[in-house]
Amino acid sequence: MELKLEHVTKRYGANTALDDLTITFTPGIYGILGANGAGKSTLMNLITDNVKRDGGSITFDGTDILELGDAFRAQLGYMPQQQGIYEQMTAESFVSYVGRLKGLRGKALRRQVDEALALTNLSDVRHKKTGGFSGGMKQRLLLAQALLGQPRVLLLDEPTAGLDPRERVRIRDYIKALAQDRIVLLATHIVSDIESIAGQVLLIRKGRLLRVDTPQALIDSLPADWKPVMGVKSLEDVYLYFLGD
Ligand SMILES: Nc1ncnc2c1ncn2[C@@H]1O[C@H](COP(=O)(O)OP(=O)(O)OP(=O)(O)O)[C@@H](O)[C@H]1O
Ligand SMILES: [Mg+2]
Repeated sequence: MELKLEHVTKRYGANTALDDLTITFTPGIYGILGANGAGKSTLMNLITDNVKRDGGSITFDGTDILELGDAFRAQLGYMPQQQGIYEQMTAESFVSYVGRLKGLRGKALRRQVDEALALTNLSDVRHKKTGGFSGGMKQRLLLAQALLGQPRVLLLDEPTAGLDPRERVRIRDYIKALAQDRIVLLATHIVSDIESIAGQVLLIRKGRLLRVDTPQALIDSLPADWKPVMGVKSLEDVYLYFLGD
């Protein structure tokens, strides 16, 4: 399985949100680091076809995703950065609703809703209205809906934003477990969330892909005289050195 972006560019007027980005994703976890406005969400929006690219190509196993259309969308799970949850719906009705949008029906729908709620630890609150959920529960619910249809490509845009450390570790562990045979793109500002689970890390700066490498290789590429913020060099230092201004 291969998701390939070649020379992908997206402009908003005079502002180039993504500039000539080329990368090939194969199964595994890709952490995406970049400051506010660097282009992380734009990258995901281009893969979901929520926004139109101005140049370049995006292919899935050799065919352009625009040509694949629904066939590609069926392979996609997307957890958007902005929370959009109907507060009057119960957890179960929300996840079922998204499942129906994805074309699931009947027994298959019920089975997948059960699985997604179990995996995100929401089975106990499935009949509760989401309006009363904590931030962490809402995040887990958004992750649950992204898992429906057993997507082979998962796009997670800041999945742990606003969560307490325990919830963050929980979500991180789910994501790690999910990554088998899947392409997972994970945009975040919480550098420690990807340090231990991402096979590769993308550094994006002002719409340009600066580096793609393993966390360790990025850490090793820091200058010898770099003073680590926490005593030992970590991905946090990589962020500060390459993306920090
Ligand atoms: N709908 C839009 N209309 C105009 N400009 C936009 C739009 N969406 C994004 N941009 C611009 O594109 C650039 C990249 O934005 P993007 O949302 O991809 O950044 P990001 O890396 O996800 O940032 P954040 O960390 O804040 O989520 C920014 O300059 C932003 O202002
Ligand atoms: Mg974003």
